[in-house]
Amino acid sequence: MNSRRSFIRKATAISAIPTLSSFVNLTQPRLEEIQKEALKKSPTELAEDEDFWSFIKQSYTVSPQIINLNNGGVSPSPKPVQDSLERLNHYANECPSYYMWGIMDQGREPLRENIAKFAGVSPEEIAFNRNTTEALDTIILGMPLQKGDEVILCEYDYPNMLNAWRQREMRDGIVLKWIDLKLPSDDKKALTQPYLDAITGKTKVIHVTHMINYNGQIMPVKEISDLAHKKGIEVVCDGAHTFAHIDFKIPDLGCDYFGTSLHKWLGAPIGNGLLWMKKEKIATVYPLLPNPNPKTDNIRKFENLGTRSFMIEQSIGEALNFQYALGNERKEARLRYLRDYWAKNALAISDRVSIQTSLSKEFSCALAVVGIDGLMGREIAKTFFDKYKIHTTQRTKIDINGSRVTPHVYTSINDLDRLLTAIEYLTKG
Ligand SMILES: Cc1ncc(COP(=O)(O)O)c(C=O)c1O
Repeated sequence: MNSRRSFIRKATAISAIPTLSSFVNLTQPRLEEIQKEALKKSPTELAEDEDFWSFIKQSYTVSPQIINLNNGGVSPSPKPVQDSLERLNHYANECPSYYMWGIMDQGREPLRENIAKFAGVSPEEIAFNRNTTEALDTIILGMPLQKGDEVILCEYDYPNMLNAWRQREMRDGIVLKWIDLKLPSDDKKALTQPYLDAITGKTKVIHVTHMINYNGQIMPVKEISDLAHKKGIEVVCDGAHTFAHIDFKIPDLGCDYFGTSLHKWLGAPIGNGLLWMKKEKIATVYPLLPNPNPKTDNIRKFENLGTRSFMIEQSIGEALNFQYALGNERKEARLRYLRDYWAKNALAISDRVSIQTSLSKEFSCALAVVGIDGLMGREIAKTFFDKYKIHTTQRTKIDINGSRVTPHVYTSINDLDRLLTAIEYLTKG
């Protein structure tokens, strides 16, 4: 197993590590020592420090028996987030309308400022909602498009968004232009050229997924946005899988609209999403759930959701604290280290194993798909669970056929060794 740990280390500058008190009980005897050691390391060096990450794991309440390697679907919340939700639920149930609408509601604007800062945008461009589907459907169904206007998209985009576009096609007569992408890929030109080739004088929108759910492919959104803008075309970006996963700010993508789910990589309670759009676009997009002034340029018009849990929303604050304490750069480096560990060692097991995700930094991070020649993705995922109690998800789409494996910051090398044993078993079947 030691030979598996021979990845090249690349030292990079590191900022000071904030207190680890968010992660673990401060009475832990080795905590200070570990924190001191961690401070000396670059994110890539720290990524390999099992002691450090074993303390991070203590902030989670994940099952020690079932190994969860489907963190792409939805993430568990760390303990401080779970505690916050429980605490706020207790308050709310003492007098719901007073605590929710009178007290907790006052937290929304500071929360908007905090999350906007993390995302690198203005708070006046951020709306809270329940998930990526709601965020992007608001944009897709609300943006001004006429009969004959063209939208470019592909089959690897997420089905909910494709359904929204198809509904607009059905109702409004817009035209959907489908492009083919060859995945996996680490060829930027091959990933951008199909969008460029599909542009006509009628193209109004390009829909692009930042990280494709089927195999974890990261798309060159910035390049696609720059090409689109040269021709006056708007870009809608599905950021469900990348926010608080890879280290970026929304403006880095150059897109016009962005939606994400905060219950994925931020670890906020389930049912939290975020919508961002450029300030100048707000007035032109109709809200999905109308308010009295649907043409206002106030982003809050998208938050007229009716009664919902403010406790869930307000607990985003603790998830953000945890994210800051961990540091996005450190988190990304650990996730990539774990992904490399299992994927590269899986390839070494047998020629029957394929990794259907690019392993280069620019084009992937935690999500990757393992295929085994002669087996369907669902058979692989079933054996992982039935025999090894490893929870993954099957992915079968166009050229992708395998089990999608997604570790998290609480995943250990031991967990991944069990996965490698399972892969080895399947190759011998
Ligand atoms: C790329 C992508 N977009 C959107 C979604 C939908 O997210 P949600 O169900 O939180 O709305 C997902 C869910 O996994 C996804 O993978």
